[in-house]
Amino acid sequence: MPPSPATPRDIRRAADILRGGGIVAMPTETVYGLAAVAFDGRAVARLFEAKRRPSFDPLIVHIADVDALPSVAAHIPEAAQRLADRFWPGPLTLILPRRREIPDIVTSGLDTVGVRLPDHPVARDLIRETGAPLAAPSANPFGYVSPTTAEHVREQLGDAVDAILDGGPCRVGVESTIVAWRDGRPVLLRAGGTPIEAIEEVVGPVARPAPRMPTQPQDAPGQLPRHYAPRSRLVLDGSPADFPAGSRLGWLGLGHPSCPEAYAAIESLSESGDLREAASRLFAALRRLDALALNGIVAPSVPDAGLGLAVNDRLRRAGTP
Ligand code: TXA
Ligand code: MG
Repeated sequence: MPPSPATPRDIRRAADILRGGGIVAMPTETVYGLAAVAFDGRAVARLFEAKRRPSFDPLIVHIADVDALPSVAAHIPEAAQRLADRFWPGPLTLILPRRREIPDIVTSGLDTVGVRLPDHPVARDLIRETGAPLAAPSANPFGYVSPTTAEHVREQLGDAVDAILDGGPCRVGVESTIVAWRDGRPVLLRAGGTPIEAIEEVVGPVARPAPRMPTQPQDAPGQLPRHYAPRSRLVLDGSPADFPAGSRLGWLGLGHPSCPEAYAAIESLSESGDLREAASRLFAALRRLDALALNGIVAPSVPDAGLGLAVNDRLRRAGTP
């Protein structure tokens, strides 16, 4: 049976499941999320189990309306408010001081909470129908490529979730941009669907720490160097010469490779070099290449501007051995 988009009835049923302590995969404009009621610590624990995710990695809390922000965050810095006004609903997560009501398992015991207001009608209807904010990591097994269709979720987590709502392919295709505050200054914790240039127009220069292994949860847990990884070896800015002769290789990038005959499979993320299009296709293309059990993937980096920053970040992590 072909998958069909979530109906209002599906959403009501999913909300019942969530209120009963269950976990539901939901579409957002970035990637599919695996949701539980954010105030329900036991339900949130099931998310970690389903994803096999280490518990030091805190979750983003999703709200449907800005009115719900005070139920999650204890205080909203003025600059954060300006970013919320400008970019919500949309692919931006703000790290804010948490309310005590948010269980430790959501924040990994940090005194902050990540909050976002997604730009997808199914996600927002589900949150409203449930009547509570939803904690939701991306709906992939830990460390693997994030899902951008309901089918991706079914393939990888089908048995581990109570319901999957289909909202079609994700429009943005990479996760939200994450901004935190340190000593009152904005810091980029993860490049994502909202271009950093657009954020800087609103709040001025944003610090960009280099990716590294976190030594403490406060060091941006999402910055594990290897993440979003396919199973084939990916070499960023590499060439066929990086692999033994006779290797079956895939190519992933903008436009076309200069020597197409060297590749068993070619995934053009955008014929015209459009970085938004490239972001929206990235994870599905990685999955298709991975399904071919290639010996390796060659991926030229894309321009480091707009959504290109997020695309390069995900490629870099996919290529970290
Ligand atoms: O687009 C998205 O953000 C998707 C959709 C489903 O909303 N969600 C997503 O969640 O990417 P997840 O769990 O895969 O990534 C959330 C990232 C993690 O790397 C986590 O470390 C970081 O957000 N994060 C969450 N709360 C944080 C906090 N209080 N301080 C620092 N980082 C935090
Ligand atoms: Mg994730």
